[in-house]
Amino acid sequence: MSRVSNALAGHFIMKALCALHDTGILEYLGERNNGATVEAISLDLAIDKNILESLLDFLVVNVPEFFEKKDGLYTIKSQFYESSVQNSIYFALAYEDVLNNLPALLSKTKKYGIEVARNGKYLSKSSTLHNHHAWPAITDFIKEYNFETVIDLGCGAGDFLKHVAKTLPAVRLIGVEQSTEAAGITKDDKDQSIKFINGDAGTPEVWAKDLSINSIEKTLFVSVTVWHEFLWSGETELQKVFSKYHNQYKGATLLLVEKNGYSLNSLKVLPDSLKDVTSVYQLIHPITNQGLPQSPAVWRSLIESSAVSLQAVLPAHPDISMYVCKL
Ligand SMILES: C[S@@+](CC[C@H](N)C(=O)[O-])C[C@H]1O[C@@H](n2cnc3c(N)ncnc32)[C@H](O)[C@@H]1O
Repeated sequence: MSRVSNALAGHFIMKALCALHDTGILEYLGERNNGATVEAISLDLAIDKNILESLLDFLVVNVPEFFEKKDGLYTIKSQFYESSVQNSIYFALAYEDVLNNLPALLSKTKKYGIEVARNGKYLSKSSTLHNHHAWPAITDFIKEYNFETVIDLGCGAGDFLKHVAKTLPAVRLIGVEQSTEAAGITKDDKDQSIKFINGDAGTPEVWAKDLSINSIEKTLFVSVTVWHEFLWSGETELQKVFSKYHNQYKGATLLLVEKNGYSLNSLKVLPDSLKDVTSVYQLIHPITNQGLPQSPAVWRSLIESSAVSLQAVLPAHPDISMYVCKL
């Protein structure tokens, strides 16, 4: 069997999961350990019973490790909530609109960022599920150097900052996020100890007045899987942004946290499990106007040829690196 033949069921599984998520059915089943019948679900959620039954039966057949049907009751098993599984679903949801519009993007009848966009809320959930592996290493770094203020650039929904708030409650925490959808900045349920700024990490001059920094040496700018996105406009653009931070916050620390990127040849020889997720992750970047994730060697030379000075490269997770820079 070729990978294409095998992928057909996988494609439909993902489509079914995304639809069940978007219609609240996964949440509904997740709240009912004893299971639910299609009749109950379709009545409570105003869902087409026949389509629902065919989707759930399809999942019971194809992913029995997650979905079960007994005496007409459908249940979701606990393994379904493992972070790698949830991450895959949120990643697919985040880029669903983009993939549906791939022919239009290819034929240039639509433009990414104008008629087509990724979903910021789901992207944020997916990123958290992947990037939380790096949080302990970043938090240890904040603790070791006794930073008083931490500014998370491209903070998404602020999950990393919430983690720091719990671990190091004395640290002043500020999140900067461009996508209101991702940050849910207008929501009331924000953690009161964290200040959120709806702003562009590329224009620190715009929101500088909102930071009110006491000690520049005790200030850390951190960004987790954000800066590679800037590379879409070219290395020079990224270096211009680094210069802005250097000029404005000389003496502060910048911690770049990035998933390691791979060249085509190095991707081809990765073990299958890593190759699958990494190649999908890399594929989506050029389609959505993001620069590609880069290897540690490329990040090193990019930073070294900019205005900021690279102090160390530390592993945050087998596949995530931290670049410690002095501004
Ligand atoms: C891959 S997500 C990472 C989110 C979060 N840092 C995490 O680790 O889960 C990238 C985030 O950066 C945000 N972002 C991208 N460009 C930005 C910019 N110029 N200014 C502020 N945020 C930006 C995106 O909206 C998105 O929330």
